[in-house]
Amino acid sequence: MEEISPGLENVYIKYTELTYIDGNKGIMRYRGYDINELAQKSSFEAVSYLMLFGKFPDAAELKEFRDVINKNLPMPDYLKTILKALPEESDALGMLQTLLSARASEELNYQYNRANDRKKIPEMLGQVLSMVANIYRVKSGNSIIDPEPHGTYAETFLRACFGDVAKDTVKAMDSALILYMDHEIPASTTAALVTASTLSDMYSALASAVTALRGPLHGGAAEGAYRQFLEIGSPENVDKWFNDNILSGKRRLVGFGHRVYRTYDPRLKTFKKYADLLATTEELKNILATAKELEQAGVKAFGARGIYTNTDFYSGIVFRAMGFPVDMFTTLFGLSRVSGILAHITEYVETQERLIRPRAIYRGPEERKLDNN
Ligand code: CMC
Repeated sequence: MEEISPGLENVYIKYTELTYIDGNKGIMRYRGYDINELAQKSSFEAVSYLMLFGKFPDAAELKEFRDVINKNLPMPDYLKTILKALPEESDALGMLQTLLSARASEELNYQYNRANDRKKIPEMLGQVLSMVANIYRVKSGNSIIDPEPHGTYAETFLRACFGDVAKDTVKAMDSALILYMDHEIPASTTAALVTASTLSDMYSALASAVTALRGPLHGGAAEGAYRQFLEIGSPENVDKWFNDNILSGKRRLVGFGHRVYRTYDPRLKTFKKYADLLATTEELKNILATAKELEQAGVKAFGARGIYTNTDFYSGIVFRAMGFPVDMFTTLFGLSRVSGILAHITEYVETQERLIRPRAIYRGPEERKLDNN
């Protein structure tokens, strides 16, 4: 008897050596290394390399990886033209989708090629950095630029967006890029895998992932959580808002709950640390205090059912403290996820390639004949 698994819950579609999650204990590791330790001690480029090639780079390999990223920072002119043509008020992630799809049109007669595609990954990291930085610039009324390389990926990105940036902000961005880099195979990575399993090109696979990231149940949650704090306004309003909106069953608490975790999301610890460090304005201190009060109410109400705070609860406060507007949060998540998605695609295509083609159980009418009219 055929059965469906709603939401593909507990369906396994690949083996992986990339990310390990223990949802009951709240553990997450990349290739065996604890996620918070990596966020504290490593860099986005080194961890990307680890994910893609299975080992940390030595100094020469790291330099070469960074050089390829930096050489590929300038966007082709046609992408600049497309970005300029989009209305300033467009959804930022929608703009990224558009740019990735346009870039995919260059992949003529694409044939998966192990050596070439691996080489292409740092090139793609350079291109996506420019796309996201320029989306931010266009949306904030600034000109499109070719970003200048500065030390790390995080610093190059932030300087392309803001010019000067503080050291703590660069470190927080580097950590955020690492924490969000991969998460086994959530909806967005699965969408990319489905596309890649047809042996389509990597830009198309990335565009598929970004499309799936957009929804509020997934990547859109950081934005949703932050808007929730704005709506509540201050810690004193939490109890009433929580009773009226959440306990009443009208809405879900955004930034809470997860398909895999039955306890706190392990990434939360580092995001919370940076929220404490960077939320220095009165406005952000108030938002953070509101978030903490709301978290307590949420854990009290839902903890016993295994519904706890997820990473998106505090990440928005960190991005806002860096200077990004709320409508850029999901796109920053997208930027962070690129190397994780590409690592999953290459792992799948190289070791377990099979077209992903599930079935649906037919429940429509029995055979019918067309009338002659
Ligand atoms: N607030 C209130 N109730 C919740 C929540 C929540 N945030 N999350 C789950 N539940 C309840 C839900 O109402 C259901 O209750 P019942 O069994 O009585 O109908 C039960 O828990 C199971 O919910 P589900 O939707 O079947 O579980 P799921 O595994 O599909 O949910 C989720 C995962 C992330 C979609 C869900 O927890 C949710 O909607 N959370 C809010 C949005 C959010 O924060 N998303 C970010 C996820 S983490 C980052 C990422 O993946 O991008």
